Amino acid sequence: MLFSRRKICRARWLLLFLFVLYIFVSIPKQDPPLQRVDQDLARSLDFSRVVLELSEAHVAEAGSLTAVLPVTPTSLLTLRNALSPLSDHPPDVSLYPWNGNPIAGVLHAATQPSTKWLLLLDETDLSGLSDRTREMLLCPVASGLPNGPRGVTGSPGNLSCEAPSPETRPASYLLPPFSLPSSLVQEIYKDWSELGHAISRSREDQLGGAVRGFGDPDSNWCNIPQSRTSIHAGVTEIFAPFQDDPSSGLFVFLLPDIDDLRLLLQLLCRLQQSGHSLRVLLYSESRTVLRMREIYNSSCSVQYDATRNTGRHIYPAIYDWLHRMEREADIIFTINEPATQPVRSERAVIIRIPRDNLPYVDWMGSLSLSEWMDWHVPQIQVSIITQDRPQSLERLLSSLTRGRYFGDSVSLRMNLEQSSDFETIRIVGAYQWGHGTVFTHRRVVHGGLLPAVVESWYPHSNDSYGVLLEDDVELSPLFYAWVKMGILRYRYGGARSETARLFGISLYQQKNIELHPEGRKAFDPRKLFARNHILDPSTPYLSQIPCSWGAVYFPEHWREFHAYLADRLSETTMEIERIVVPNVRSNNWTKSWKKYFIEMVHLRGYVMLYPNYEGFVSLSTNHLEMGSHVKDRPKEKQEMFRLPLMELRSSIHLLDLPGARLPEWEALPVLNLTGFLITRDKS
Ligand SMILES: *[C@@H]1O[C@H](CO)[C@@H](O)[C@H](O)[C@H]1NC(C)=O
Ligand SMILES: *[C@@H]1O[C@H](CO)[C@@H](O)[C@H](O)[C@H]1NC(C)=O
Ligand SMILES: *[C@@H]1O[C@H](CO)[C@@H](O)[C@H](O)[C@H]1NC(C)=O
Ligand SMILES: *[C@@H]1O[C@H](CO)[C@@H](O)[C@H](O)[C@H]1NC(C)=O
Ligand SMILES: *[C@@H]1O[C@H](CO)[C@@H](O)[C@H](O)[C@H]1NC(C)=O
Repeated sequence: MLFSRRKICRARWLLLFLFVLYIFVSIPKQDPPLQRVDQDLARSLDFSRVVLELSEAHVAEAGSLTAVLPVTPTSLLTLRNALSPLSDHPPDVSLYPWNGNPIAGVLHAATQPSTKWLLLLDETDLSGLSDRTREMLLCPVASGLPNGPRGVTGSPGNLSCEAPSPETRPASYLLPPFSLPSSLVQEIYKDWSELGHAISRSREDQLGGAVRGFGDPDSNWCNIPQSRTSIHAGVTEIFAPFQDDPSSGLFVFLLPDIDDLRLLLQLLCRLQQSGHSLRVLLYSESRTVLRMREIYNSSCSVQYDATRNTGRHIYPAIYDWLHRMEREADIIFTINEPATQPVRSERAVIIRIPRDNLPYVDWMGSLSLSEWMDWHVPQIQVSIITQDRPQSLERLLSSLTRGRYFGDSVSLRMNLEQSSDFETIRIVGAYQWGHGTVFTHRRVVHGGLLPAVVESWYPHSNDSYGVLLEDDVELSPLFYAWVKMGILRYRYGGARSETARLFGISLYQQKNIELHPEGRKAFDPRKLFARNHILDPSTPYLSQIPCSWGAVYFPEHWREFHAYLADRLSETTMEIERIVVPNVRSNNWTKSWKKYFIEMVHLRGYVMLYPNYEGFVSLSTNHLEMGSHVKDRPKEKQEMFRLPLMELRSSIHLLDLPGARLPEWEALPVLNLTGFLITRDKS
């Protein structure tokens, strides 16, 4: 038996060193050197990358072996263990600086030593191997092939891992650790497979390595760090590249594992098809990644890197990976969990999404790079106006709880009327809001609906947005996605003066137009657009009508409304009865904030964006309950206003839009106060 006889093999270690500033350490022979190395490395970890050279006591003899091992912030912690197999005969250690991919570094350094044998390692060093396998690696038997326990067979596109066994098996190439005669490393190769292919080309039998192992406890090695693998998804639609924003970005996705990646495939494929570059790291994927090729599916393939670090080693591995990228990312997309909390970037916008929101992020694929870059700029607040309808309030609050907020901080303000009943006050007090601050406001003098609504929110800056909700409204869990998508699309991502006329975004679809002088009329925008030969009748549209059944209002216009209202109510410029907008029914409304908002909109030519999903599927609905303006509520009237809500898994999606994104501003149809299409002036 070959291994029953214990050979003494002299070993030399060549350490490839990443991320460390220059230090020079001379190790006195009698000292245990490794402790010193550890300390110095640890102290210097925060510096940038450079040279470290330890004294080299001996020139290696013929017949000895040099181990090449990358030292990174990750593997630093385990360096001593890595070197321990040789503790009975302390090795000579040389450190070489390297600035880049550690695989390329190991292969580069492998051309340096003058020993007959090389042992090439990765960050996982010799851990996970049995003693016999280690001995095989440290005392290699003469053969013209790389020899190790981890091999890959097959040809590119159809690779699989070769299970190690005591019998020698052929492989296309080996993954570290493996030993090989130094003479096989003739030039600098870029990765393991290139080395294997170079070896196999030089041989008649076309082998790139020999696999052999002896009961190694770690059978999970097939998912080696930095193995780049593809995952394929069926995306039938080919999305048009962005017209308005030709600049493409580098998007980095830091995700725990392959299941998270699967949830994001639609988004990733779309970004890729829009010309962006993607880098994906699965930082705690423990499964065998090479076998993941089962997910092949036609039109889109996303490449990813994977490491299987766990626990406290996750962040150094992520750091290491991020700093090895060819350029800095524009966007870092990750999930909101401790492992990635320390991720920082001077340049990139970091977006942290709660893991349970990942199934609902497809809409983000419709954003342009500059819209992504402004992700954190708008501050959206929710303001609720309530008086004495506790059941309604409870329904609204529970729909608010079901909402998805994509990691954004959203503050909530609850406005109670002076006449609020005990139950309403109790519900407000008991409500738990997990996405930001809560502020409760109660009037001391009964004001009625006009001041209740108008004073319920006031913008803090030009980036504050107010979602105003009366308590008989109920929300779709995706209302926030609709609001954010619209705000980013029409308010951010490059200044656009023409969208200054947009005063808000409605959550509610219009099914009736109330402002006809002769009374309410049913309304169906899809039919109207089809009749008028609008190319895609499913387009959202602009309307002059302000919506009070769930809408977000914009800061400049809301501020202006305050000023207009103050002026109007004071009668300094005109008497209160004066008709400002001819022929609209709102002139007959009394004590209505909307009446005055309609006047301002009419005078200024402002518009609101409305959704137009199939079947009136809406982001909010109204239950038309008894209140200040509703004195009776026959069933048929209630049904006229209640709309189906867009649910998380409903068949109608947020991206059921022309070209699967919110249209260009110029392409949106515009309706006047009585629901007629108007041609847009070019101003
Ligand atoms: C992939 O390799 C396996 C065995 O190595 C073989 O049976 C199979 O036919 C190959 N598939 C393709 C598509 O080449
Ligand atoms: C693969 O494509 C088919 C149809 O082309 C689709 O039904 C299936 O869901 C896709 N699988 C994945 C994983 O996307
Ligand atoms: C906010 O917008 C208004 C109206 O466009 C403008 O006059 C004002 O200067 C802006 N304020 C800031 C702080 O930019
Ligand atoms: C609206 O008010 C005008 C005058 O104030 C009145 O003549 C008209 O009948 C009213 N219309 C409705 C529908 O109440
Ligand atoms: C809306 O447009 C129609 C058709 O041009 C017109 O008859 C109607 O008066 C307009 N409504 C308002 C409120 O301006």
